[in-house]
Amino acid sequence: MERWTGRVALVTGASVGIGAAIVRQLVQNGMKVVGCSRNIAKIEALKTELLSAKGQVIPVRCDLKNEQDIMDMFTMIKRDLGGVDVCVNNAGLAHEAPLLSGETRDWREMIDLNIIGLTICTREAVKQMREKGANDGHIFLLNSMSGHLVGSSANGHFYSATKFAVTALGEGIRHELREMKSQIRITSISPGLVETEFAVRMRKSEEKAKALYASIKCLQANDITDHVQIHDILIRPTDQVS
Ligand SMILES: NC(=O)c1ccc[n+]([C@@H]2O[C@H](COP(=O)([O-])OP(=O)(O)OC[C@H]3O[C@@H](n4cnc5c(N)ncnc54)[C@H](OP(=O)(O)O)[C@@H]3O)[C@@H](O)[C@H]2O)c1
Repeated sequence: MERWTGRVALVTGASVGIGAAIVRQLVQNGMKVVGCSRNIAKIEALKTELLSAKGQVIPVRCDLKNEQDIMDMFTMIKRDLGGVDVCVNNAGLAHEAPLLSGETRDWREMIDLNIIGLTICTREAVKQMREKGANDGHIFLLNSMSGHLVGSSANGHFYSATKFAVTALGEGIRHELREMKSQIRITSISPGLVETEFAVRMRKSEEKAKALYASIKCLQANDITDHVQIHDILIRPTDQVS
């Protein structure tokens, strides 16, 4: 982690869950971390919690479904911090919205956040990395096991489709970086069930989320940053095509 000390990371969806755990880890290791979400109060609290850490938290209010909010955030990052070195595309959500009976607005919100917001952030982050000459820059995508397997539960089918899109985007971004002869890395992380606010938001019920999280021994948000068991790692030279 030493080479990242003092460098700039953006973590989307930083207010709670996996995003907040990533912010803690990066700031403790000395990075300047721009944490964004709609609820800025929770990121302000994270900033206070981490005041004595090596790095710092810079809270930004940003609705990632709104392109202007994203562009304003990247303008601020460039002006005040000189551009990003690491972009963690973590924000994401699911609605219970089956394919044959779900609400169109729920499908659209998942597309806007899980696919479009993530892709705009990646485009702008790579642009800033190239402008500042951060050839060792790194893009992370918080994907999911649902980005590799379609479960039988109808409630998760559309969410799964957005995460399959994230799998395709990760591979597409890798190809475009390679074509530019860039050394910027792209990593897709696909956790199984993690106990966060995710299921509370998806099921719109604390009780139902509790029941889901009690059904198996879940991962905790810290497991993603600390001691998770990683099953498959694909390691390629940045120049490799297939
Ligand atoms: N939990 C799991 O079981 C699990 C498993 C596999 C993959 N994942 C993926 O991991 C990522 C993080 O999930 P999590 O479990 O940490 O979820 P979470 O606890 O529900 O947190 C989601 C984060 O995204 C932010 N967010 C939601 N809508 C936003 C918007 N429009 N603009 C900006 N920020 C927004 C939320 O903040 P605000 O509401 O304040 O905006 C929050 O900080 C997601 O991409 C999810 O798909 C989760």
